[in-house]
Amino acid sequence: MRGKLVVGNWKMNGGLAANAALLGEIAAGWTNTPGRELAVCVPYPYLMQAQAALSSTSVSWGAQDVSEHPSGAFTGEVSAGMLAEFGCRYAIVGHSERRQYFGDSDGVVAAKAKAALGKGIIPIVCVGETLGERDAETTETVVLRQLGAVLERLGEDVRRIVVAYEPVWAIGTGLTATPEQAQAVHATLRSSVARSGAPEVPLLYGGSVKADNAQALFAMADIDGGLIGGASLKSTEFLAIARA
Ligand code: 13P
Repeated sequence: MRGKLVVGNWKMNGGLAANAALLGEIAAGWTNTPGRELAVCVPYPYLMQAQAALSSTSVSWGAQDVSEHPSGAFTGEVSAGMLAEFGCRYAIVGHSERRQYFGDSDGVVAAKAKAALGKGIIPIVCVGETLGERDAETTETVVLRQLGAVLERLGEDVRRIVVAYEPVWAIGTGLTATPEQAQAVHATLRSSVARSGAPEVPLLYGGSVKADNAQALFAMADIDGGLIGGASLKSTEFLAIARA
């Protein structure tokens, strides 16, 4: 049985005081439940704070990106080895905002996933189509191309990743894929990872997930949880999603 996983992506939000309150509320509100996992991916400077607040709890933490390089003259980058020192369980790679604003290509995303795994960090590989791509009926081609680059690069290690389907048109817009739309893409992704020998890879959905739509999405056969942006910044909303 695949477990359920809900991950908060804080994006570039937070501050020491607000984080302390949020992390404290999440830790206090989450009961360790077999088969269910909760995690938050915070901005790099707050990893130490997340580690201090969560290390004695069952909530995990991680980063929102990672360098494809191990060390050296890469100003502004943060390596997987550094993330590992701060206890990161996860690193998001290939978020659509990285692809769109920072030029992360399919090849770079695959290299980042590989670098994370090399230090024992689980990459959460994001894929998703834009509205234009959906309208042009190329959703399947796009997500399979994005995922395919990672599958090819990782080989057998694919079993150790998490995949998140995040339609770009649903991120931060209040528009959510219907459970059926999301399930259709997840079924495609499931077949793809299964062909690579990893049918049990957790497949998360992300894009305007809220407490009131989470249950219907998470009830779908191939949706194993969610990657949550805006709603992960409010503990009551985030915990309600995690319990859905
Ligand atoms: P929202 O939940 O704010 O739409 O963001 C989704 C997302 O991009 C999570 O990575």
